[in-house]
Amino acid sequence: MLKIRSRGTKILLAGLLAAGLTTFATASQLSDKCDNCHGKDGNSTDEKVPSIAGFSSAVIEDAMAAYRNEERPADKYKPEDGDETDMIAISKKLSDDQVKEVAAHYAKQKFMPHKQSFDAALAKKGAKVHKKRCEKCHSDNGSNAEDDAAILAGQWKAYLKRQFKLIESGERDVPKKMKKKLKKLKDGDIEKLIEFYSSQQ
Ligand code: HEC
Ligand code: HEC
Repeated sequence: MLKIRSRGTKILLAGLLAAGLTTFATASQLSDKCDNCHGKDGNSTDEKVPSIAGFSSAVIEDAMAAYRNEERPADKYKPEDGDETDMIAISKKLSDDQVKEVAAHYAKQKFMPHKQSFDAALAKKGAKVHKKRCEKCHSDNGSNAEDDAAILAGQWKAYLKRQFKLIESGERDVPKKMKKKLKKLKDGDIEKLIEFYSSQQ
């Protein structure tokens, strides 16, 4: 009786250990794959791919769910050493636990604002629009990850431009209160906002 029990315990321990190791290996293998497109530790070197370093895990988990449910369009992308694919296909391959693991991983990385060209005059005007309409949810000029509203300050301009287009056309959904604020913008305001966010380096 005692023998059987101790054998059972041993098997259980071995099983737990193996499961633990697998989870560990999967988490780092996973983020390596993400880094292929999103750059080292999630700081992207291509303007078409957003940086995700330092994003809150809630935002990453929500984005992955939106892609998986096909509620958010996803551009195809081919990294230098990998196959062309997109976030919808990628998100469908991950379990909920894997999504949580990668989200926690990127939340711990440091977001590095990108060096990119910008129009200083428009950026100055954009700062005013931001303060009036957007600062409430995108605080510290859009740099505070704790708002659970992504990081806009220092994000790639080309990526932001595309997202604004998708949001304006309704292809990408955003919170109701954000839509209300967007409706209040005047012609040219979005261009100013994009210059403002990309001016923060
Ligand atoms: C083949 C390249 C590629 C790979 C691999 C990849 N991504 Fe992406 N990811 C993109 C592109 C391109 C976008 C922008 C998509 C769009 O909106 O059109 C994106 C967008 C995102 C976003 C939304 C960011 C935001 O600001 O809203 C998150 C979150 C994300 N990816 C997480 C991940 C995670 C986690 C992994 C690994 C499991 C991963 N990605 C792997 C290319 C990739
Ligand atoms: C009521 C809160 C709220 C307000 C006000 C708001 N936003 Fe947002 N915004 C969010 C949240 C939450 C997200 C992330 C979740 C999502 O994509 O739905 C987001 C996402 C975004 C994104 C996408 C970022 C990415 O990485 O893909 C952009 C761009 C953006 N907001 C711009 C703005 C601008 C510009 C304003 C002002 C005109 C504004 N928002 C006002 C809450 C808000």
